[in-house]
Amino acid sequence: MTICFRNDRSPTSDPLHLFVASVLRAAGCVYADEEARLLIASIPLADLHKKVEQRVSGIPLEYVLGWANFLGHRIALEAGVFIPRRRSEFLASQAIDLLAAGGVLLDLCCGSGALAAVIAASFAADEPVTVWASDIDPVAVRCARSNLAQVRAQVVEGDLYEALPAELRGQVSVIVANAPYVPAEEIELLPREARLYEPHRTFAGGPDGLSVQRRVAEEARTWLAPGGSLLVETSEAAACRTEAMFETFGLTTRVVRSETWDATVVIGSRPV
Ligand SMILES: C[S@@+](CC[C@H](N)C(=O)[O-])C[C@H]1O[C@@H](n2cnc3c(N)ncnc32)[C@H](O)[C@@H]1O
Repeated sequence: MTICFRNDRSPTSDPLHLFVASVLRAAGCVYADEEARLLIASIPLADLHKKVEQRVSGIPLEYVLGWANFLGHRIALEAGVFIPRRRSEFLASQAIDLLAAGGVLLDLCCGSGALAAVIAASFAADEPVTVWASDIDPVAVRCARSNLAQVRAQVVEGDLYEALPAELRGQVSVIVANAPYVPAEEIELLPREARLYEPHRTFAGGPDGLSVQRRVAEEARTWLAPGGSLLVETSEAAACRTEAMFETFGLTTRVVRSETWDATVVIGSRPV
């Protein structure tokens, strides 16, 4: 059974909402009202107590709900799969601008498949794109397969490009790679929820933050079609190093920044 609010009662005056929000607020949840609204609207009443307890214990809201909102889409999540961040909506929007109907999209380090899901969904059903996705983590691959079933994506498990078919070389229009990019010494500065509940390898970018990105960029030219582009998310501070690294691998590079999303994306294109 799910709780429905009557039209004449706003959620914020509902006693159940007030109770759940007060419990969450006491536990230190900054967005207690919004979280209470989502939990009450999404969780059957019989499970609500258990789910609120999970949230109070510190488990991220998205794991408690089993989904995350990403660019207006509900992305299913399993515990231990990276929670798509709002800032990565900028990466998705940049990829949508570069991809044309009939093109080939590759989501490397796909996690839940959130990027590929929203990018592919932006194309009409009669003018689709071909979608490939890959991740090293079997749980992420299972999660991405479920999120990408509707767009008939092929999701493979392996280290970066390792599990992709050789026939894809030279065919990819756009590669999106939200690869781990947090430098080793900054990991302790991440929010507690991320450090405790998301696997280390989802954000660990090695000593300089570029370890995984460097391997992504090194091979990108051989997978991209002429004129195709690789897009990676990075921090504002690291963007110029990522840009220089892209150039060493023969990509024509630019950096785009959104203050709204507080996000930075480096785009490298294979010359035509
Ligand atoms: C920051 S998360 C991004 C997930 C997803 N793209 C998103 O934006 O929500 C990085 C992902 O890279 C994956 N990963 C880390 N190292 C990898 C590697 N060597 N090969 C493939 N995937 C890798 C992790 O399992 C994780 O799912």
